[in-house]
Amino acid sequence: MAECRYIICGMGIFVVGSVGIDFVSLSARLPKMGETVLATQPLHIGPGGKGFNQAVGVARLGADVQFATKTGSRDLGRQAQAFLDAEGLLGPLVRQSDRDNQVALIFVDDTGRNMISVAPGASADLQPEDVADIAYSPGDILLAQLEIPIATVTRAAEDAKAAGATVVLNPAPAAPLPAALLEAVDIATPNETELSILTGMPTDTTSDVVTAGERLLQLGVGEVVATIGSKGAVHITSAGSTSYPSLLVDAVDSTGAGDAFNAGLVVGMARGQSLGDSIQLGNRAGAFCVTQVGVLDGLATMDQLSEFVASL
Ligand code: RIB
Repeated sequence: MAECRYIICGMGIFVVGSVGIDFVSLSARLPKMGETVLATQPLHIGPGGKGFNQAVGVARLGADVQFATKTGSRDLGRQAQAFLDAEGLLGPLVRQSDRDNQVALIFVDDTGRNMISVAPGASADLQPEDVADIAYSPGDILLAQLEIPIATVTRAAEDAKAAGATVVLNPAPAAPLPAALLEAVDIATPNETELSILTGMPTDTTSDVVTAGERLLQLGVGEVVATIGSKGAVHITSAGSTSYPSLLVDAVDSTGAGDAFNAGLVVGMARGQSLGDSIQLGNRAGAFCVTQVGVLDGLATMDQLSEFVASL
């Protein structure tokens, strides 16, 4: 299939979400409850936040992107602004809060698995009125996540839908979602953990994921593209489901793989590719991401992705 499924091809992508500072500690294994472990590498400090990562991912893959976010106003906020500036994302939709910036503490083990705790800071201050003046056009794509207030995501999704844009929601971290938001979402992109939380159903097997995805459809979203780690992604619609296996790679840090996937997905859609081909682009972007430490180095350009795939 090579049709433009949802959109007039080549329109703009809006990302509404968080920008954060990531403190990443790599150790042989993740600490157990109450345990202290020593890191095996120097602390890695860099930009993050699911919104920032997805916006950078989109830009690196060569698509036009506008990013609506809120930074802090103190030291970490100034760092976040510098990171936005360096990536060409310090546009008119970037607001500033009196609080300090979002921060994430990330533990990664030697198989690349992670644990993340996010202190939202300024991201919690991104209010519905901060996204009310976004001018969506028919055919645009809105990509949002849940590190900002749900009322803000809902406002953006309703406005985008009313303007004829396609709404893609990466429901991370998972949280109960109001009906108004669920009904405005064209494509939801949970990972298996988020899908389980959103539906209250198990997602241990691909078959479980399909059943839980069908439940999410009943709750109001248009389609589900569920990511299932190294196994790739499953596209679930009312007409059936299709699996898209990922590439086999040696993972060093899975942080941001979902963000890279979402960026690839919406860039494929904006280029007029079929949803299946867009999911494959997302899979390739996610696979590249897990081969790098930290998110920023894991967000590839199209050329990097081509070389990466050819090298496997
Ligand atoms: O998805 C990865 C991101 O989640 C990290 O960059 C961290 O900031 C958290 O928001």
